[in-house]
Amino acid sequence: MGEVSNEVRRLETLIEINSLINSQYRDVRVLLSRIMESAERLIGTDASSLLLVDSGTNQLYFEIALGDKGEDVKKYTLEMGEGIAGWVALNNRSLVVNDAGSDPRHCSLIGEDTGYKTDMLIAVPLRAKDEVIGVLEVINKSDGNNFNNDDLRFLEVLADQASIAIQNARDFGQLSSELDRLRTRVVTDSAQRDQELVWKSPKTEALLTQADRIALSDSPVLILGESGTGKELLADRLHNYSNRAAGPFIKVNCAAIPADLIESELFGYVKGAFTDAVRDKSGFFERAGGGSLFLDEIAELSLSAQAKLLRVLQNGTYQRVGGEVDVTVDVRVIAATNKDLGISVDSGTFRQDLYYRLAVLPIEVPPLRDRVEDIEFLAHYFLDGFKLERKDVPSDFSLEALEVLLSYRWPGNVRELQNAVERAVITCRGKKEITPLDLALPGKNRENTEYKGKNLKDSVTLFKKSFVREVLFAHGGNQTLAANALGIQRTYLSRMIKELNINHRGDEA
Ligand SMILES: Nc1ncnc2c1ncn2[C@@H]1O[C@H](COP(=O)(O)OP(=O)(O)OP(=O)(O)O)[C@@H](O)[C@H]1O
Ligand SMILES: [Mg+2]
Repeated sequence: MGEVSNEVRRLETLIEINSLINSQYRDVRVLLSRIMESAERLIGTDASSLLLVDSGTNQLYFEIALGDKGEDVKKYTLEMGEGIAGWVALNNRSLVVNDAGSDPRHCSLIGEDTGYKTDMLIAVPLRAKDEVIGVLEVINKSDGNNFNNDDLRFLEVLADQASIAIQNARDFGQLSSELDRLRTRVVTDSAQRDQELVWKSPKTEALLTQADRIALSDSPVLILGESGTGKELLADRLHNYSNRAAGPFIKVNCAAIPADLIESELFGYVKGAFTDAVRDKSGFFERAGGGSLFLDEIAELSLSAQAKLLRVLQNGTYQRVGGEVDVTVDVRVIAATNKDLGISVDSGTFRQDLYYRLAVLPIEVPPLRDRVEDIEFLAHYFLDGFKLERKDVPSDFSLEALEVLLSYRWPGNVRELQNAVERAVITCRGKKEITPLDLALPGKNRENTEYKGKNLKDSVTLFKKSFVREVLFAHGGNQTLAANALGIQRTYLSRMIKELNINHRGDEA
């Protein structure tokens, strides 16, 4: 009777663990502990351990150790082949030992140190694709009986499940580091730069002269400017022209990393800081040591990460998440945003002290429409680039097309120009010249019928809305600049934006 119910309980446990594996892979240590508790309970043992192979040292370390002396055991590591667990890992075979004292493979050292005597144990390999990744063992049967074949079989099934859980977690970890890689790019070699900065206008020339001087300083830089103006290319140049050019250059897009992860990504964490923190991990600051760190879209940084950033900028030290030790770093911070940080400070989403600290050396990249000489030059530069890649590219822009390029407002700046040229190249395949129609820029030939049939008050409101929206959009949503252009106070502009229900960037909702 008791036998049957134990069988049923074991089966139920396996089913339960199976469904946990499919749902809890982020909490792999909780899941593994559950598996080990089930093993202890259903086989009836005093202690259990899960050891993993450290791929760096090829040693076994105790990832989890349950039982009275569990915590003490964790400081030990075993060589491959050392002790029963080492033998199981080396030979990729399970082992049942009912008299550990007389087994020459048993390593009694840990037991003598911790004061916990191992009389009997079962140890089974954890495998991923037939390779041993660790060992699961249960120790000392509580009822004094020997371990039997049923116990061994049950532990082997649990070990398979534990292996799957570990593999899942590792795949997930691999996925997160893949995401890390996508979110950040480490640029150590200037030849890796995918795009070079080109210019013709005196405005850009003056900007670069200023930038090249700033490059030599170690103070933080804040690059401001509308979207698509070339802030990232300028950041590349600041690093490449600095004395740190041979050091690492790490780029982090603050908007692409979830707010609850950004702090640990930037500053690293210590083991145990949160559930998934099974090891100490360095952050981007540490990895950028001796080089530069590009914090793109800095306005999106969480307030707590801002506090830590301010501290590093002030005295070059920070603490890893969950840590108490000060880490010292030598990193030059280059920050960028297309947001109006003044507004973020007013609305309480950006620390004023950090703003002042970052804005020691501000560089404002002017919008493309304010540097007309660059428009034509860049348009030809992009067209020439396409000529190198493909055959049927028109040789030039028609005069009318050039006029359109020069008179357009370019709210999306250089990025929009680059896209417009690409679109034109694709649509006018085989033609000699690119015409205004091929550029397909918005806003041309739009008929103005929206005031028809409306009274003066409604028409004025409509006009106000569209005019304010246009100016705001032209300034990349920067309310200070837009208010200047409109000749009104910024507070009045903000009120209008609210009252007229305008999207805060000025683009179509
Ligand atoms: N002066 C330039 N010469 C050549 N290419 C440029 C220049 N300025 C910008 N570009 C190109 O335009 C695109 C946008 O530039 P970049 O990514 O540096 O802009 P950004 O200011 O960082 O934009 P966002 O605010 O949207 O992140 C890129 O493809 C970049 O290579
Ligand atoms: Mg950018």
